[in-house]
Amino acid sequence: MIELADISKTYRTGSASVEAIKHIDLSIGKGEIFGIIGHSGAGKSTLLRTVNLLEQPTTGTVKVGGVELTGLPAGRLQRERRRIGMIFQHFNLLAMATVRDNIAFPLKLAKLPKAAIRARVDELLQLVGLERHAEMYPAQLSGGQKQRVGIARALASNPDVLLCDEATSALDPQTTNAILSLLLDINKKLGITILLITHEMHVIRSICDRVAVIDGGEIVELGDVVDVFLKPQHPTTKEFVSQVADTFDPRELLATRKGRLIRINYIGDITYEPLLFNAAKSTSVQFTILQGTVSRMKNTPYGQLVIEFLGDPGEIEAIIAALKTKGLEVGEVA
Ligand SMILES: Nc1ncnc2c1ncn2[C@@H]1O[C@H](COP(=O)(O)OP(=O)(O)OP(=O)(O)O)[C@@H](O)[C@H]1O
Ligand SMILES: [Mg+2]
Repeated sequence: MIELADISKTYRTGSASVEAIKHIDLSIGKGEIFGIIGHSGAGKSTLLRTVNLLEQPTTGTVKVGGVELTGLPAGRLQRERRRIGMIFQHFNLLAMATVRDNIAFPLKLAKLPKAAIRARVDELLQLVGLERHAEMYPAQLSGGQKQRVGIARALASNPDVLLCDEATSALDPQTTNAILSLLLDINKKLGITILLITHEMHVIRSICDRVAVIDGGEIVELGDVVDVFLKPQHPTTKEFVSQVADTFDPRELLATRKGRLIRINYIGDITYEPLLFNAAKSTSVQFTILQGTVSRMKNTPYGQLVIEFLGDPGEIEAIIAALKTKGLEVGEVA
């Protein structure tokens, strides 16, 4: 649905120049929720804004829904942009217009008949749960409600793609979760492709299917959220993952524990099965959980444990082999 090829963006201000994005290739499928995470200044907003050409890339091509946007004449680009909605960290609502008029704005620009606009806005108000707020002004709304207006406005022209620039960064954790659920719901109901940028791993873990980590204008890691989350490779990725995995480095335990320390990763439904207990119960091996998380990513449960095994080395080996045959990822803490 979105194809970026060799996208670079260099900003020039006077004699200085900043290479904000460096030769990025990225392909995002229809209906996917794709997250881009990175630190401040990494180039996230710049990259996102090249997708609808709010930012003209210095090199490369942008295709959305099979149509190459780079190089289109202004009028045609304007029309293609209606297929791409966008929401912002600070909502960007019209302060002097009611909720209804804010949502109606893009439809008025598209010169839809009044009755059609009214009907469409009613639909959108219901979709985002603001039926009772139609005649209010932005100043009378909470942050979460303002973002709902932003979402409704972005969806007004039935876009195929929704771009989200730090859409939850101005919101408290509870409101963040409510907005993330709404995005997930919209993705399921409408099949819309969502590309979001964030500096919060929690956002990625909650709703994204795939993630790219961006650092210094380059993608340093990319993959399914489950894989990136459980096996981060790049130092920046590890740092982001540690935001949500409230765990310490189990190697610290090696000096103080006598037994064999093993890491176990569970993914999917096996997370909730008593595999460890079953594997150990007919042996004399004792095990202690030294560290553990059981949580979920979007719809996938997962667990990460650090276990200390004490007992006969041969029996411990047999337990590890049994866990591996059940599909668990088992490795030494070393
Ligand atoms: N209009 C501009 N003119 C000059 N430099 C810019 C412009 N916009 C962004 N930059 C620079 O490009 C780099 C990337 O900026 P960008 O806004 O894309 O980062 P970001 O990852 O979105 O950061 P944040 O998390 O703070 O929003 C930064 O070094 C920034 O200073
Ligand atoms: Mg930004």
